[in-house]
Amino acid sequence: MLAGKHVALYVSGGIAAYKAAYLVRELVRQGAEVRVVETAGAQAFVTPLTFQTLSKHTVYTDRFAQLAPDEVAHIELADWTEIALVAPATADLIAKMAQGLADDFASTALLATTAPKFVAPAMNVHMWENPATQRNVATLKADGVEIIEPATGFLAEGYSGKGRFPEPTAIVATVTAKLLAQATDLQLHGQSVLVTAGGTRERLDPVRYLTNDSSGKMGYALATAARDLGAQVTLISAPTMLTVPAGVAYVGVDSAEAMRTALLARYQTAQMVIMAAAVADFRPVTVADNKIKKTTADYTLTLTKNPDILAELGQQKHQQFLIGFAAETQHLLTYAQKKLASKRVDMIVANDVASAHAGFNHDTNEVTILQPNVEPQTLPLASKQVIAQQILQIALATRRNQQQK
Ligand SMILES: Cc1cc2nc3c(=O)[nH]c(=O)nc-3n(C[C@H](O)[C@H](O)[C@H](O)COP(=O)(O)O)c2cc1C
Repeated sequence: MLAGKHVALYVSGGIAAYKAAYLVRELVRQGAEVRVVETAGAQAFVTPLTFQTLSKHTVYTDRFAQLAPDEVAHIELADWTEIALVAPATADLIAKMAQGLADDFASTALLATTAPKFVAPAMNVHMWENPATQRNVATLKADGVEIIEPATGFLAEGYSGKGRFPEPTAIVATVTAKLLAQATDLQLHGQSVLVTAGGTRERLDPVRYLTNDSSGKMGYALATAARDLGAQVTLISAPTMLTVPAGVAYVGVDSAEAMRTALLARYQTAQMVIMAAAVADFRPVTVADNKIKKTTADYTLTLTKNPDILAELGQQKHQQFLIGFAAETQHLLTYAQKKLASKRVDMIVANDVASAHAGFNHDTNEVTILQPNVEPQTLPLASKQVIAQQILQIALATRRNQQQK
């Protein structure tokens, strides 16, 4: 998404300025052409030579030092820019942007830039929470500037709070996600896609639950792949160890019941629903209020059936393209075929979770796609990212055929 894009990176004078060097590297790694502007404050932390070497371009520092006699440098940069990224953004530069000041190279070029602007503030938590800063940030938002919220964590001052500069990879991912959502030529542009992921947790008592080995990796890969096709993705996820992909709306749930509620609340307006979560078939009949105590006798657990969410979605289906997953350890295709026939879904992705390199917890998968009146199609072993992209391409081709009929 960033390949060949003209990115003007504005670095201002905060302690996080050194992290901007990593940011340039990450942008260059993604194929962007980067030009760097440093405020006087930024130059006190990192020399222009660092950014010049990484960006392979002279760094803009001084309003009145013109690089070429036939150009006004700040206007030339502003016109060249396709994405303006202010990172780290000091409270000072944010205030200047909010007021429309133009008293150094950075603020002048930013005022002259019509390209989309992203601002990643980084500062002391009290500076961040100060009403003046919050007012300025609100003004920038109202002006259409995208604010990349600071992270919460350990600050340079030696204590914790909101104000940390996000990781450069997270900043680049946020910019990319925003550009993807705006790209009108992508196959899922403007469409709402729901993806479920992870293994649900069915409570026994306040400290114990029943769950399964699902890592959520397949669902997260599908959410990322749908986002990369321009979709507005909502990821309804049981607890996992994974990072939520940038640009994806996250709804955290625990039990099958909670997942059902979250899905039904969003189902009517969705264009595509991908049920990659491993939803528990059963839950304990009762959930103890307190920790179940150890006894000398055996303990018998009585389970009751959970709602069949996929079947319910199938019954309520109208415009939604519905994709289910079938994870089995035996008779994979027979069980998956049954699921396809009984639940009114458009596609079942069958995976053998007993296989050595596929299924739960692996980074790779090997699946068979089942669709009504179509020969089963096997996608050979590949990363879950690649499998996710292939699943979506098959789904889109099928949906196109359905719409043409
Ligand atoms: C050691 C040191 C660290 C600083 N860190 C920050 C910071 O993280 N964020 C911030 O907004 N200001 C920070 N400041 C204050 C700015 O450097 C100061 O407001 C400066 O005028 C900003 O100029 P600029 O916005 O033109 O870069 C720091 C100052 C010093 C001396």
